[in-house]
Amino acid sequence: MDNPEIGQPDETADVAVPVTLTVNGRRHDLMLDPRVTLLDALRNYLGFTGTKKGCDQGQCGACTVLVADRRIDSCLTLAVMNQDVPIVTIEGLGAPESLHPIQKAFIEHDGFQCGYCTSGQIMSAVALLEHEKPPASDTEIRERMSGNLCRCGAYPGIVEAIRCVRDAARNPVAGEAA
Ligand code: FES
Ligand code: FES
Repeated sequence: MDNPEIGQPDETADVAVPVTLTVNGRRHDLMLDPRVTLLDALRNYLGFTGTKKGCDQGQCGACTVLVADRRIDSCLTLAVMNQDVPIVTIEGLGAPESLHPIQKAFIEHDGFQCGYCTSGQIMSAVALLEHEKPPASDTEIRERMSGNLCRCGAYPGIVEAIRCVRDAARNPVAGEAA
């Protein structure tokens, strides 16, 4: 169901239905085959290619986005099921000149190598630290990030980055001084 022409209506669809998605604060009206996943809608129809497709089966977390502040695998849900809710992708987090603190921390603590899993890791970390009960230990960080796989094995840096942002949020003055 991939459509190479970003933003074009899906003319191969047997039946296209109107779908409205609110992504990074902007509303997008689309005509989509109701079988199109949220991941494919974001990447192929709206051009949010920062969200990656890994397994396409809910097993790797590369496609993680926030829907109503909850992290979800966007390959496992249909676009049509995610209307009237705010969706946030990696493009909505920060800009190169003003990175989100978690993006900065991933850079500072070597939280990636090839980068393929990174947007999913970062979206998951944002949910973990900003919309869930923050993890109490490194073990808990690992456990609660276990839905996001990294084939490069950048796990030590990922855990360190998340721990540092958590600690800076608990003690902002120390965080600024560091
Ligand atoms: S691409 Fe969605 S979980 Fe792997
Ligand atoms: S940085 Fe390469 S897969 Fe995670």
